Amino acid sequence: MQITTSEQWNNHTAITEFILLGFGEAHEFQILLFLAFVVIYILTIMGNILIVILVVSDQHLQTPMYYLLGNFSFLEVCYSSTIVPKMLARFLTGDKSISSWGCFAQLFIFACLVSTECCLLSVMSFDRYVAICKPLHYATIMNGRVVLYLLVGSLLYSASMAVLAVSMVSQLSFCGPKEIDHFFCDFSPLLQLSCSDTSHVKLLNFICGLIDLLPPFILTITSYVCIITAILRISSTTGRQKAFATCSSHLIVVSIFYVTLMIVYILPNTSTLRDLKKFFAVPYTVLTPVVNPLIYSLRNKEVKKSLERAFYRFICFNEIKRLSPLLLTVG
Ligand SMILES: *[C@@H]1O[C@H](CO)[C@@H](O)[C@H](O)[C@H]1NC(C)=O
Repeated sequence: MQITTSEQWNNHTAITEFILLGFGEAHEFQILLFLAFVVIYILTIMGNILIVILVVSDQHLQTPMYYLLGNFSFLEVCYSSTIVPKMLARFLTGDKSISSWGCFAQLFIFACLVSTECCLLSVMSFDRYVAICKPLHYATIMNGRVVLYLLVGSLLYSASMAVLAVSMVSQLSFCGPKEIDHFFCDFSPLLQLSCSDTSHVKLLNFICGLIDLLPPFILTITSYVCIITAILRISSTTGRQKAFATCSSHLIVVSIFYVTLMIVYILPNTSTLRDLKKFFAVPYTVLTPVVNPLIYSLRNKEVKKSLERAFYRFICFNEIKRLSPLLLTVG
């Protein structure tokens, strides 16, 4: 069954599965990594879903900025779920194989979501730029409809880039070895395994990487630089400090995200870098999705208030439920 589907899909493919080597063999280290990744993944899912629920359910959070944060959190849930659950399953079962179909699917979904994430980060920074530097024009530039167009546009753009890149890779022949020295199916470790001529695919992937990463990176950094210059002109020192702290924390997280992405997808594969790339992939695949809700949403005053309201509502609801049998008997 497995063989027929992958043969239909690509009749050059001799290999029907790959082996993801992950982070080596040492047993204690594996347990430690497993525990760390489980905790991080649970926090990622809980934090991001909490924000989605708040944004969808709270009347006070129905503005473009919170729509963006809600959609961003939703994206983070999908994004980390394309990689981490499968990795955790490999730790538990010790079965490191992945079907070639599954491998290309993971490659496609990941490529699509990581590029959407870049687009969304730049849209979010642009939104803050307009709000802070062009406050009088904010209402005309940003509204729910514009946010929706930007979201759909980002997704379509990213999906078409991913289709292009992944279809090139899936045309290659793989005739063994099948061990991928990485913790998920990614472009360059896969290309290394191919027995076809990969030079044109490598070039195309490099160009896709540039087109995917550089424009959103430049837009994001420019927005933050403009915001920070605007903040430095604010006269009140306390306001300045708070705004500066917020912006610089965004800037740090965004920079770590982009720098590690660029190291992996744009820098050439020298022999030392090739072995390090899977470690450079940890920040942008596993760590940013858990940090982002803390940095972007949970420090925000409105989100904190909304959380408090939700908490009280929850307590009251439980209180009423607890009392209702009593009320009924009294009635
Ligand atoms: C995503 O954005 C749209 C508006 O463009 C909004 O209606 C929707 O609630 C947002 N989704 C989440 C999960 O925040």
